[in-house]
Amino acid sequence: MLRVVVCVSGGGTNLQAIIDGVQNKTIQNTAIVGVISNNRNAYALTRAEENGIPNCCVSPRDYADRADFNTALLQAVKHYEPDLVVLAGFLVAIPQEMIQEYRDRIINIHPSLIPSFCGKGFYGLKVHEAALARGVKVTGATVHYVDEGLDTGRIIAQKAVEILPEDTPEVLQRRVMEQAEWIILPRAINEIASRQSTEPGSGTNTNKR
Ligand code: GRF
Repeated sequence: MLRVVVCVSGGGTNLQAIIDGVQNKTIQNTAIVGVISNNRNAYALTRAEENGIPNCCVSPRDYADRADFNTALLQAVKHYEPDLVVLAGFLVAIPQEMIQEYRDRIINIHPSLIPSFCGKGFYGLKVHEAALARGVKVTGATVHYVDEGLDTGRIIAQKAVEILPEDTPEVLQRRVMEQAEWIILPRAINEIASRQSTEPGSGTNTNKR
């Protein structure tokens, strides 16, 4: 069973897609063992509560400095003993110590076709504003492993989405979520989970249970 922790900051529609995928079995061999948010008001935490998923908030506001926050975030993740950490709209720079601890076991969903419109300053609506400003006719979403860079890890999956002439950033964001994010993120998790189940010794969680 692939133990998954999902890190969130906002509405949690990607988290909901994962929850739904586990429930309708399009995601096999997977359990969401925890949800962590940096934002105590994130509706994603409500979604976790409504689905009986353990959850917590680790807010930078509660710590003296970034180093203390980073330590607390890593401890919160380790508490759930995950095999895989999924960043689903998590607007926090991942601490280097967390990347080292979970090397090749952290994935992220980004709302563009990397390497377009990614990196510093490209998050949420800003990504779609940039795509519209550039005048591209196709955009989409990318699932990738998280490494020390920003949106630079190995790409796992991508799905293209057409941009229409009258699109606003909000309309485009919703189409990218519906037609790309909510499809490729659950699919990527299912593929990782199926690899774990077919390669028993490959349990990606080095923690002994
Ligand atoms: C999504 O657009 C996602 O691509 C980006 O942040 C947003 C999160 O949305 N990383 P939600 O919290 O999953 O609804």
